[in-house]
Amino acid sequence: AIPVMIDCDPGIDDVMALTLAFARPELDVKLITTEAGNQTQAKTVANALAFASYLGQDVEIAQGLDRPMFKELEIAAEVHGDSGLGDVEFPEPVLKLSRRTAIEAMKQVLLASPEPVVLIATGPLTNVGALLFAHPEVKPKIKFISYMGGAAVGGNMTPTAEFNVYVDPHAADLVFRSGVPIVMSGLDVTHKAYVTLEEVEELERTGSDFALKVAAMMRFYVKQAKQTAFHPSDFEKCIRLHDLCAVSYVVTPELFEGDDCCVQIETEGRLTAGTTAVDYAQRSGKAANAKVLHTVDREKFVAQFFDAVEKMGML
Ligand code: BDR
Ligand code: CA
Repeated sequence: AIPVMIDCDPGIDDVMALTLAFARPELDVKLITTEAGNQTQAKTVANALAFASYLGQDVEIAQGLDRPMFKELEIAAEVHGDSGLGDVEFPEPVLKLSRRTAIEAMKQVLLASPEPVVLIATGPLTNVGALLFAHPEVKPKIKFISYMGGAAVGGNMTPTAEFNVYVDPHAADLVFRSGVPIVMSGLDVTHKAYVTLEEVEELERTGSDFALKVAAMMRFYVKQAKQTAFHPSDFEKCIRLHDLCAVSYVVTPELFEGDDCCVQIETEGRLTAGTTAVDYAQRSGKAANAKVLHTVDREKFVAQFFDAVEKMGML
């Protein structure tokens, strides 16, 4: 199996991503780290512990940084709810928080791994940026970073910035300049990775407790849907599972298409702070540092996710 680490800010779509990672035998989840983003650090780590415990997973969960590198923290409570998981509740966790900090744990897991690890990142890149800055010796141990964030065209936080990059653009800048290969699932692809309300009803008919919880989280999430660039006109009936793309790509890269590009982060722009400047037209003269995904086979993607929900719901 492919060794993976997941850095996240659960977050409704973050737990969808965890679901697929737990369900697929192709992946071996070595570590989960959390940070502030959709909600505060205290809430995202509590959600990760409760969710992984509910699914019966025995996995190390380590707490990461509680604020962006230089900016004030801005959370997305209106999108993900007061708890971070909509209005769905999970039982008290059985899993205990790791004694290691996220950055220590990531470093030690990477250095101990005989083979390179895929780092899946579905939140602001604060932990990953700090790791690569403080411990550059881990870079050869990272096969690539499968990252949900950014957008070549159009933002969901500002006219041009996507939430994860907007929250901590300085961390994203460190990561995109680190030399570690990146596969970027930005809004260009994640807006095509949606589940329809009809499909949510299908999931509800399967009836497991877990399927009903997943469906309830999706119904909470869709209430916040807003029109954005390149999105179907019936956007209010589509639940975009952004973070799930970052896991799905690792399992089944053949479901996605993208281009190798140079991506640079605007950290301070007057109108554009947090924007990923994606050089599709090769105007910068700089070498590609990321594969920027733009297309997904939506039906196979949804079927893959529903299979994962079914499997985890039977455990
Ligand atoms: C990203 O922002 C967060 O709210 C989601 O969890 C996802 O990681 C989408 O822009
Ligand atoms: Ca997220």
